[in-house]
Amino acid sequence: TGLLVAPAAGFAGYLWAESGRSNVGTLSFRNRLPIPPLLPPVVDADGRKRFRLTLAEGRTELLPGTGTTTWGANGPILGPTLRARRGDRVAVDVTNNLPESTSVHWHGMHLPAVMDGGPHQPIEPGRTWQPYWTVEQRAATLWYHPHLHQRTAAHVYRGVAGLFLVDDDETDALPLPRRYGVDDIPLILQDRKLHDDGSLDESGMQFGGFSVTGLLGDRILVNGGYDPYLEVGDELVRFRLLNGANARVFSVGFADDREFSLVATDAGLRDTPLPLRRLMLSPGERAEIVVRFRPGEEVLLRGFPAPMGGNVLIRRMAGGADTFDLLKIVAASTLRPSPALPSRLAAAPPVPAPTRAEPYRMTMGDFRFDERVMDLTRIDRVVRAGSVEIWEIGNTGGIPHNFHLHGAAFHLLDVAGRPPAPHLTGEKDTVYVPPGGRVRLAVRFLAHSDVRRPYMFHCHLLAHEDAGMMGQFITVSARDEPQVPADLAGPHP
Ligand code: C2O
Ligand code: CU
Ligand code: CU
Repeated sequence: TGLLVAPAAGFAGYLWAESGRSNVGTLSFRNRLPIPPLLPPVVDADGRKRFRLTLAEGRTELLPGTGTTTWGANGPILGPTLRARRGDRVAVDVTNNLPESTSVHWHGMHLPAVMDGGPHQPIEPGRTWQPYWTVEQRAATLWYHPHLHQRTAAHVYRGVAGLFLVDDDETDALPLPRRYGVDDIPLILQDRKLHDDGSLDESGMQFGGFSVTGLLGDRILVNGGYDPYLEVGDELVRFRLLNGANARVFSVGFADDREFSLVATDAGLRDTPLPLRRLMLSPGERAEIVVRFRPGEEVLLRGFPAPMGGNVLIRRMAGGADTFDLLKIVAASTLRPSPALPSRLAAAPPVPAPTRAEPYRMTMGDFRFDERVMDLTRIDRVVRAGSVEIWEIGNTGGIPHNFHLHGAAFHLLDVAGRPPAPHLTGEKDTVYVPPGGRVRLAVRFLAHSDVRRPYMFHCHLLAHEDAGMMGQFITVSARDEPQVPADLAGPHP
């Protein structure tokens, strides 16, 4: 079906040919939900935890009786879950056996830019990249995915992505469900388009022509599996949700509208659990929720139309007007009792006060920041190590965007001039910015400084990122003026 998109603020006349229809009632929930395996590290002689990821092409049966060529890490699709504790020294050997160069970025990880795995750390086919760092942040659900210049959408769409869980003592001391794959379940949500023979349909994946958000698929994969069900055996189950889609926004809830508790956002635990019935996640965002089950019941996890303002066609472009069953959850006839959810979770870091007076203002036009297209040789911003800045991002175009930055975490100060909704409080690294929307962030930068290697900020709709909706900042030491050092004023190495 095609829809003629009426002229909207900032752009006009795109034909949008992918109405992601509702799949409600069409799934049979025949496949057990895959759980990405935990990858055991090898502990080096000096105590460093070393993980090994090998990226390669493989075959996955998504639709019954067909095969899909997919990409994955240590398997045909997605990758294993890496896990480490705050204070751990870790290393990863990432071998690229794919037919083209790629990179692996640790989304949400606080590490030096040279280890970040962005477009400045490509891995040629046949080569191994060996980043290492010390885990210096609160417990959180992080993830990894390719980030090669202009190729991120394709590489993620083909299947390279996985989780990186950080643990700490504070979280372990709480009576939260924590048995991985038992009552602590990762849910990586992604949409795909498939041809009848099972092969991945990549049409519309890149921005351009008729595709303004990038690809919106009508087949939802959860943890790389299609048409999934999950059996649970505990009263309380924690789900670690990741929107790993290229462009689709999911407003997650249950078909029976039950309440659940939001316990963590992108960067870690909230101070208190927040009861919700719906939770909107744009691409790249994570959330941890705890859900109560009754013995013997079946309940559907569903993606609902997302309330986000703007006209209905724009909502549809964001995937907002569509309803998708995601997963059937089947509770055992007797459930293990779970301890009650604590009313206080963590001493979440307070909103930091800015250390730099003037805010950094950016405009998201339809496909660029401040009318500029990403240039690997241009530094867009210089910040001081460990500083706090106000970043203000307005979406003046007619297309949904979101905003993510590397090497930092932020608090939302306000959304369109109003205090953020309760589910957007707490530390995050990715936030939705709808058409006409404006967010003000208090960004806390890392203490690592490296003037030669920039961190990225970008829209996490991957087609937009690839089309150039990305910029770069470098971090100078806390003593230096926040300006591009003279010897780097020309093209950047
Ligand atoms: Cu999840 Cu710069 O990316
Ligand atoms: Cu990132
Ligand atoms: Cu965008």
